[in-house]
Amino acid sequence: MMMMKKKKNGRTTASASKRPTIETRLVHLAGKLEDPFDSVAPPLYQTATFNQPGATDFGAYDYSRSGNPTRTLLENQMADIENADGAFAFASGMAAIATVMRLVKPGECVLAGNDIYGGTQRFLGKIAPAKQGLTVKHVDMTQVEEVKAALEEGTKGNGQPPVKLVLIESPTNPRLEVCDISAICKVAKEYGAVVCVDNSIMAPIFQRPIDLGADISMTSATKFIAGHSDVTGGILSVVGKELCEEIYFHQNAEGNMMSPFECWLSLRGLKTMALRMEKQAQNAEKIAIFLAGHPLVKKVNYAGLPGHPNSGIHASQASSGGSIISFETGSVEASRRIVEDTKLFKITVSFGSVTSLISMPCYMSHASVPAEIRKERGLVDDLVRISAGIENIDDLIGDLKEAFAGAEAAVGASSGQAK
Ligand SMILES: Cc1ncc(COP(=O)(O)O)c(C=O)c1O
Repeated sequence: MMMMKKKKNGRTTASASKRPTIETRLVHLAGKLEDPFDSVAPPLYQTATFNQPGATDFGAYDYSRSGNPTRTLLENQMADIENADGAFAFASGMAAIATVMRLVKPGECVLAGNDIYGGTQRFLGKIAPAKQGLTVKHVDMTQVEEVKAALEEGTKGNGQPPVKLVLIESPTNPRLEVCDISAICKVAKEYGAVVCVDNSIMAPIFQRPIDLGADISMTSATKFIAGHSDVTGGILSVVGKELCEEIYFHQNAEGNMMSPFECWLSLRGLKTMALRMEKQAQNAEKIAIFLAGHPLVKKVNYAGLPGHPNSGIHASQASSGGSIISFETGSVEASRRIVEDTKLFKITVSFGSVTSLISMPCYMSHASVPAEIRKERGLVDDLVRISAGIENIDDLIGDLKEAFAGAEAAVGASSGQAK
């Protein structure tokens, strides 16, 4: 058993040589601030500025845009659980992604998947090319060969820009497609491209992209880190001194950092993240099985179902199917009724909350993806996404059964027949 030992300076550390597991490290902060009262909950430094010892003599912190002790605690904690060299907390997941895009210079290329979060698609479609001069290419990231071909294309000197950044989502939002993170990182390294994995759906509890070879792991803290639908934030966990310095430069220069209070709430959320995510994933698995057996459902997307096309790859890089599921009914009306008739599932964008959530991505989180692109990529209007919460599973399934019965009565069971 691991023994906890008090050191002279008041820091509590593990005395056993074995590093405690993530669940334990989440509860015991990786770093500690100088605190005369040794508070168990981390102090909230709700301040913009810090009084300096002198006009030319500076303390550890001077201005909260550049650094804040509560933010440092969160950033150290994230770096610790992700095995990163540094972590940086931003005002939202999108602010974090926008900062990653700063690594790419005009004339260079960003490679992304076909099934990605709508906000990321909006950035890649409307900001990166028109306002930053970047080329954006989309490939089917579930096919490593397509990634390799795009990387190769950028080296031929035939006018195709070099790929500087590969942006992976796995599993993807909203169709839970799975990409082989290690294989993509390996091939990207051969071509000198930086790999950033948007790990918002798994979070570092179930999948740690840096251990799989990524340079940057991005997590929307709005989701599982905070876990209670009360924070907007994003984290970049980063490998390598140079990359850390570059990300920090942009965080400070552009002022897109997370506020002290959001950092404090995120720190609180982290303590229960493993517990919440385990329960949410257990619920999701049962919901996925229920959906797969329902006549109204045409297709279920859940990374933890054995029938998932890349379930083997997912199992090799993640420890759980997670708590996000999406499904098709073949009928927008049936899907709408299911979403609107559930009582325990809040109709909302986002995921990862203790509360179960339900949405129709094409009308909500992915509405900004142009209709023709959605059509081209097979992102259908009747798709429903569920984020399982921590409620009792019998209540959740009972609620879904009633909503499905209402939809079936209204549109008939015919829509889901073609499984
Ligand atoms: C996969 C994924 N990445 C990034 C984001 C952006 O995070 P935020 O909403 O915190 O900006 C989202 C938001 O839903 C998301 O689903």
